[in-house]
This record gives sequence, structure tokens and C-alpha cells, in this order.
Amino acid sequence: MFASRQIFGSIQRRAFSASASNASKVVVLGAGGGIGQPLSLLLKLNPRVSELALFDIRGAPGVAADVGHINTKSNVKGYEPSKGEDQIKECLKGADIVLIPAGVPRKPGMTRDDLFNTNASIVRDLAKAAAENCPDANILIISNPVNSTVPITAEVFKKAGVYNPKRLFGVTTLDVVRASRFISQYKNTDPANESIVVVGGHSGETIVPLLSQSGYNLDGQALADYIKRVQFGGDEVVQAKGGAGSATLSMAMAGARFTESLLKAAQGQKGVIEPTFVDSPLYKESHGVTYFASNVELGPNGVEKIHPVGKITDHEQGLLDTCLKQLKGNIEKGEAFANQNV
Ligand code: NAI
Repeated sequence: MFASRQIFGSIQRRAFSASASNASKVVVLGAGGGIGQPLSLLLKLNPRVSELALFDIRGAPGVAADVGHINTKSNVKGYEPSKGEDQIKECLKGADIVLIPAGVPRKPGMTRDDLFNTNASIVRDLAKAAAENCPDANILIISNPVNSTVPITAEVFKKAGVYNPKRLFGVTTLDVVRASRFISQYKNTDPANESIVVVGGHSGETIVPLLSQSGYNLDGQALADYIKRVQFGGDEVVQAKGGAGSATLSMAMAGARFTESLLKAAQGQKGVIEPTFVDSPLYKESHGVTYFASNVELGPNGVEKIHPVGKITDHEQGLLDTCLKQLKGNIEKGEAFANQNV
């Protein structure tokens, strides 16, 4: 009880010390869902957020009313299309950051690519609304398959003539969160101090953890088990939920962490680095892979610097080669959809 009072006291004090010049409007599209609700809660607790706008085809006003009672300073408003066509416009107007977790999650036995048919058009439509109403916002794509929904969003923004590659991010933070948690279980370390580099994309074998860059070298079966767990960790959650969805709480934490990093960088903090799936030069010429997740330094303009993958082991190179082949197909699938449907 005492501990929780201390925590919330400190959150409140930080909230009241956030200055007006740091005002930031953050939007969640899909705020009524499994990720959207806890994500909205965590964003309400973030003193760097001054305005929180929540949109969903159902449920967002309820979530907004609920988190809106939390005694932090940000204003919260919920929007839904049944209340009028202008709802999404109003929601997006003036946004600094737009998080998109709208769409269907996996059921047991499904890959992220199985979600393509449903989620591609949901993301396309929401991206169109963002391109029209807040073309300069940072757009954070959570909806899967991220390897394809990010290229779809880019194509929508290009078609609207407002594409800025520095402001479009596929959220892969959960892969790093998992990689850090899982290594701490092998090595008996504090996961909060672990930061395993994870590159590539966000599905199965396109997720490539680079243990060597964090000074670790697991061998044999332990290494194989670790890599498999990082690549397919999402499946553990899908199976455990038995058809009720995929990761929502850990994803909300990861999305809130990425948002916090972006806000810190926007508000002038230097050296803020997060892994994220962006329009990237790293494997464009050599492999025709136009988007890639690696460590990215964030700044006031979004992407400040894309870090190269650097020195890796032969085994890691093998994983990367597999990743690049799959990733190219996932990206082209998104672009082909956009060419026909945008
Ligand atoms: P959910 O089904 O619980 O919530 C999705 C929400 O989106 C629902 O409230 C629904 O009403 C809303 N929605 C659907 N169409 C919409 C539209 N056109 N406009 C506004 N809202 C709309 O699903 P959950 O668990 O929240 O997952 C959402 C997405 O996030 C899924 O695609 C899932 O695969 C993905 N995901 C991504 C992760 C990542 O690491 N990037 C991790 C976990 C999930």
C-alpha cells in the first residue's frame, strides 16, 4: 500500500513538473482493444503526454472516461465513428505521435502473415486518415504483420505526397524486451539491465537476436533454444491465451516504452536509441530489402541515425541471411497490396 502510494506520488509530481513547452498530443487508433486499453493506461501515466486522444470503432469513449479519472495532468478524449464522420479527423488533428494497434490478433496456429488480409486494409484506411490530418506526426505501427503494414503505410503517405521516412516506425520493441528477459533467465542477471540487440523484422525467422553484440555466447542446444524462444515467443502467449488473442500487456509496455523514448528525444534528450523497423539503407542495395529493424538513434525529427548491424558471428550471419530473404517477400507483399488498393 505504502509502496504504491510512493509510486503514484512520484508519478504525480513528475506529471505536474512537465512544462507546457513539452506539450505532446498522443493518439491511439484501436484504443478499445487488448493492447489499446493498457497502452492508453500507461500513456496516461506518462507526464510527457499532455493530450491523449483515443479512437476505436467501438469502446474508445469508455476507455477515455475510465483512464481520464486518473489524477495525472493530461487531458483524455475518446472518439468513435458512430458519433460522426469527423471523429477521426478531430482525434488526429495536431497529433505528435500516432500509435496504431488496430486490427485482429492471432489465434493458435496462425502466423502474423495470416492476419494480412484483414489488417492490411485497416492499416491502409487509418494511415490515409493520418496522412490527411497529421502528416507530420510520428506514426508507430503495431498492427501485424508489421513487416508488411509499415510498407503499406509508407505507400499511403507517398501517394498523399507527405511521406517522411524519418517519421514512420514499426514497433519491434517487444522483441528486445523478450530477448532481454529470456537471456536474464539463462544468465541469472537483472533483465532491467539487459539490452539485447535484435535486428531484422517482426515475425518468426525475421527476428534476429545478436547475442554476440551484448557479450554473450550461448552454445549448442542452449543457443538454439534461446533463438527459437525469441523468434517465436509470441506463440507462447497466443497458445497460453487459447484463442483469446496474442500479447497485449507486454506489448502495451513495449509500445509505451517506445513512445517515451520518442518523446524524450523530441524534447531534446540526446543519445536515445531504440530498435525499430524503419525505411533503412542497410540492405537496400545489396539485398533489395527496403525496411529493416536495427538500433536507431531518435531525435526531434524522428530517425536521427540508423546504426549498422556491425560485427556478428557466422551463425548470426546465417540467421540474418534467412531473415533478409523472408523480409523482402513480406515487404513486397505490402507494397503490392498498396499498389493495387491505395
Ligand atoms: P484486439 O482485437 O484486442 O484489439 C484491436 C482493436 O482494433 C479492437 O478494439 C478493434 O475494435 C479495433 N479496430 C479494428 N478495426 C479498426 C479500425 N478500422 N479503426 C479503429 N479501430 C479498429 O487486438 P490486440 O490484441 O489489441 O492486437 C492488435 C494488433 O496488434 C494485432 O494486429 C496484433 O497482431 C498486433 N500485435 C503486435 C505486436 C508487436 O510487437 N508489434 C505484439 C502483439 C500484437
